[in-house]
Amino acid sequence: MNPELLQAINGHLELEFEAFYTYAAMSHWLDLNDLPGFASWMRDQSTEELAHAQKFIDHLLERDQHPVLPAIAKPPTKWESVTALVTEVHESEKLVTKAISDLCDFADKARDRPAQILLQWFVSEQVEEENMVQALLGRLRLVGDSGVGLLMVDQELSQGKVAGAMIEPAGE
Ligand code: FEO
Repeated sequence: MNPELLQAINGHLELEFEAFYTYAAMSHWLDLNDLPGFASWMRDQSTEELAHAQKFIDHLLERDQHPVLPAIAKPPTKWESVTALVTEVHESEKLVTKAISDLCDFADKARDRPAQILLQWFVSEQVEEENMVQALLGRLRLVGDSGVGLLMVDQELSQGKVAGAMIEPAGE
């Protein structure tokens, strides 16, 4: 594998692991704030991020390349509000989308077909993830960030839905 591409993929692992860790911390905070639907949704997002990191690692190992695991920063323990938390998730996903796009450029430059195919999956995944978080933010804008409205959104998430649409299982 082209050394620059290998270094870029290894560097990208940090973003995926950080999202895994931060989303887990978010899930805990939501749980402690009596929002089981949000907490469960966030836990699923956290698990997905770990799966993303693993997908990159597996790709490197299959190609006899060495994955280098990053140090992961300690995540926050609380958030100002649910909207602030979901906005942070949205920002994080936009950052990952940009990073995946940069990886695509590396893979194109290296004419690395297997990496291009792997990254294509991530391009589609990011469209889905950003879309889902945007829908959730839209819901919160409509109902507000407290009281009955928030409980309604929490209940939707408990039923596996965001803004009335079923959440797609990871990787589909
Ligand atoms: Fe792995 Fe949500 O980006």
